[in-house]
Amino acid sequence: MRHADVIIAGGGVIGLFCGWMLARSGVRALVVDSGGPAATNAAAGMLAPSFERSLHGGGDALAAFSAQSLQRWKEIAPLLRESGGVDIDFDDSGVLCVAMDDTEAAIFQADADKCDPLDRAQVLDLEPALSSSARCGWMARGNGQVDPRRVRLALRRAIGAAGGAVRLGRRVNSIESGKAHAVVLENGERLHAEQIVIATGARLGGLGDLPADATFPIKGEALAVARSGAAPTRVVITGKAYLCPKADGRVVVGATEIAGDRSLNVDERRLRDLRAAAEAAFPALDGAEEIERWAGLRPATKDGAPIIGPAPSSPGVLYALGHYRNGILLAPATADAIVALVATGRAGSDIAAFSPARFNELGVS
Ligand code: GLY
Repeated sequence: MRHADVIIAGGGVIGLFCGWMLARSGVRALVVDSGGPAATNAAAGMLAPSFERSLHGGGDALAAFSAQSLQRWKEIAPLLRESGGVDIDFDDSGVLCVAMDDTEAAIFQADADKCDPLDRAQVLDLEPALSSSARCGWMARGNGQVDPRRVRLALRRAIGAAGGAVRLGRRVNSIESGKAHAVVLENGERLHAEQIVIATGARLGGLGDLPADATFPIKGEALAVARSGAAPTRVVITGKAYLCPKADGRVVVGATEIAGDRSLNVDERRLRDLRAAAEAAFPALDGAEEIERWAGLRPATKDGAPIIGPAPSSPGVLYALGHYRNGILLAPATADAIVALVATGRAGSDIAAFSPARFNELGVS
C-alpha cells in the first residue's frame, strides 16, 4: 500500500480489529506491527463480561461497553470466520462460574447478579467432570470464548480481503503529527497517512501525547494441558483459576496477575498452584500432559478503563489501547468506535468514559 488513509500502530487484536473494520468501511487501512508476541497471543480468549466486573474496574460505562461488544462478537464472528478463512473457535454456549467453597461463593455472589444461580446438583449436571466438592455456581448465558491466536490469523487475512494491509517486521517507534502525519519505524522509515490509530497495548512511551505511564503491563501466566475424557465442556471459572477448553484439544488454564514485572518468564511455583487449582475443580486433569506454558503482558490503566478516542492535543491521532483483561472481548466495540471517529471526528457517548483526555484534564495518575 503506497499511501494509507489510516495507519494503525500495533497488530494485536485491537489494532487488527480496527484495521479490518476500517477496511470494510472503505478506508485504506494499514496495520504496522513487529509481528512479535502480543498480549493477544497470551490471552485465553474468554468473552465473559459477567464475571470480570470486580476484577476489571471501569464502572458502569465499561460494563455496558462490554455487553455491547459481546453482542457485536455474536454478529461478526461468522463474518470473520468466512473472510479470514479460519475457524476462530467462537463459542457462546455460556460461562459457568463455580464456587469451590463458601468464601468463593460469597465473593462471586457480588459479580453474578445477572446470572442464573445453580445449586451443587445443577452445576454437576452441567459439568459432570467437576469435583463433587463444588459448592454452587452461576451460569452466564451468552458468554463464551474464541481462540485468540486463530482470531489474530483470521484478522490478518480478512484485512487483506477487505482491501487493507498488514505490514509485519518492524514496530512503530514514534509518531509525527502536524499538518501531515507519519509513523516512524524502528529502522527510521516513515509511513504517511491522514490519521493514525495507536493500538500498542501496554507500550505507550513516545507514541502520541499521553503520559508514558497511562498504560502499564500486568503480567499473566498460563498453561495448557491436553484434554482428557473428563474435562470441562465450556469455560469454567473458579476462585483460583479459569479453564477454557479449546477446539484443538487444549484446556487453557489461567491466569496469574503480577504487577511490576515486564518479563515473559514464567514462575514454576505459581504455575504449579494454577494447575493444582484446575485439578481441584476437575480431578481427571491430574496427570494430563502439559502442552504449553507462557506469560503475557496485559495492558492495564490506573482506573481500569481502556483508552479510546482522540489524542488530547494531536488532531488526527486516535488511541485504542489499555484494555487490560478484556482486549479480546472489547475489540469489536472498540473498532466500531474507531470507525465512527475516523469517519466523523466525533466520539459516541458509549466511549465518553474512556476518553484519553481524562489523563491530562482529570489527572488520572
Ligand atoms: N481475561 C482473563 C485474564 O486476563 O486473565
